Amino acid sequence: MKIVVINGSPKGDSSVTIHSVKFLQKKFPEHEFHILHIAKRIKGIERRRQTFDGIIDEIEAADGVLWAFPLYILMVPARLKRFIELIYEHSAEAAFKGKYTAALSTSVHFNDHIAHRYIQGICDDLDMKFVASFSADMMDLINENEQKRLIQFGKVFLSAIQHQYPTIKRYRPLDWNEFDYKPGKNVPSIDASNKRVLVISDARSDDNNLQKMADSFCASFASKVETINLRDLKIVSSCIGCLQCGYDNDCAFDERDDFNCFYREKVLQADVLVFAGTMTDRFLSCLWKTYFDRTFFMGHFPSLIGVQLGVIISGPLTENENLRDFFEGYSGWQQAHILGFVSDEIGDSEEIDTQLQDLARRGIEFANMGYVQPQTFLGVGAHKVFRDEIWGRLRTVFQADHRGYKEQGWYDFPMWDAPTHMMAAMGTLGMNIPRVREQIQEMLKYGVSFRHRKIVEKA
Ligand SMILES: Cc1cc2nc3c(=O)[nH]c(=O)nc-3n(C[C@H](O)[C@H](O)[C@H](O)COP(=O)(O)O)c2cc1C
Repeated sequence: MKIVVINGSPKGDSSVTIHSVKFLQKKFPEHEFHILHIAKRIKGIERRRQTFDGIIDEIEAADGVLWAFPLYILMVPARLKRFIELIYEHSAEAAFKGKYTAALSTSVHFNDHIAHRYIQGICDDLDMKFVASFSADMMDLINENEQKRLIQFGKVFLSAIQHQYPTIKRYRPLDWNEFDYKPGKNVPSIDASNKRVLVISDARSDDNNLQKMADSFCASFASKVETINLRDLKIVSSCIGCLQCGYDNDCAFDERDDFNCFYREKVLQADVLVFAGTMTDRFLSCLWKTYFDRTFFMGHFPSLIGVQLGVIISGPLTENENLRDFFEGYSGWQQAHILGFVSDEIGDSEEIDTQLQDLARRGIEFANMGYVQPQTFLGVGAHKVFRDEIWGRLRTVFQADHRGYKEQGWYDFPMWDAPTHMMAAMGTLGMNIPRVREQIQEMLKYGVSFRHRKIVEKA
């Protein structure tokens, strides 16, 4: 059988992910794994229709399609996102219809599920037969047990094609009724004079609703707020994963385009930050994905701590929970405060006006209070994953992160906390003595909230 591999890593043949595919090729020599370096070649694919058509011909002739990609900022890299957009722009969906497919990624497992759900959603939209996702750690291939697991995945995928096993769709097609938002006059009543509000959008001239929603939001303020359209910035490339930024946050593209300067001088100065975008397939545009990927020059260290983050979306957001998860995951990692989402799917202009005005009110009110909601699993998990990674195997490359973590006291490993360590050691000893264990278990009924009770009494 012939499997076409869509390589979503900008690193092409030297990608970590693609080595898992090459390993599969060695283990299943009776099948051909034909690797297409889509992400690396995306500019040429975009420029030359012939190149794109050649790829589509290969997909059409294949028995199966394997999406192989690294995680880039909770999602697939911008370049793979762009290829997916091209499929729709060139009406090439038919080549994918009915094809067996699977997804293979490498990462450090930070929100890898969001990228996999995205790809599965795209496969469902393209009417493909999705067999399985395989999300490996970036070093799994050097572990023998993980190699066995990878071979099992290969078997699962290949035998599904061979035996034409049934597959089941996870996502319904997105249902979007075009709606023409007609903004009323939002009262310019919100005083933002002591806070910096920045609205970033990627509105095209034909993104009517998005532009109007961004304008209505801005019109809620008594003074002018700053808006930036990503299309007005010179951005020569999305992130290519060279990791030069790891040492001191200097991006390889620093001198060549506007992005890093824009991020430092505008985004990092904002108290209230609003992202505005139109849903394009199951995410925002490739340009928005480029924005997120390029922020990687700041490393794993959160750069939006305490920022009030609003999201304005044109498109059926409630049908695309994964997009919301992306922003919540991103915000949790960044230790920002999600103000909320406003989408034109509400389908009622007056209601959209009200929601936008209230988004503006909340942004300023919460910024003035310094209110940031407690971290959920998304923030706590991000902190722990990156704390361990940066202290450990990523430290050599990500020296800037390491310095930041040390300065902030974020290497808060429990084994370095002497009192907790001692209590746990004594407690463990005690739990092994039946009478002490009984007493501890009795104490648990009221003892855990003992200090809480004291606080409430004093309040
Ligand atoms: C720009 C960038 C963003 C990344 N974002 C994530 C992420 O959100 N989650 C994660 O687990 N790993 C993330 N990683 C780590 C890569 O997914 C991982 O190193 C992967 O193995 C690289 O594969 P490749 O060599 O095939 O490109 C990121 C790496 C880069 C360069």
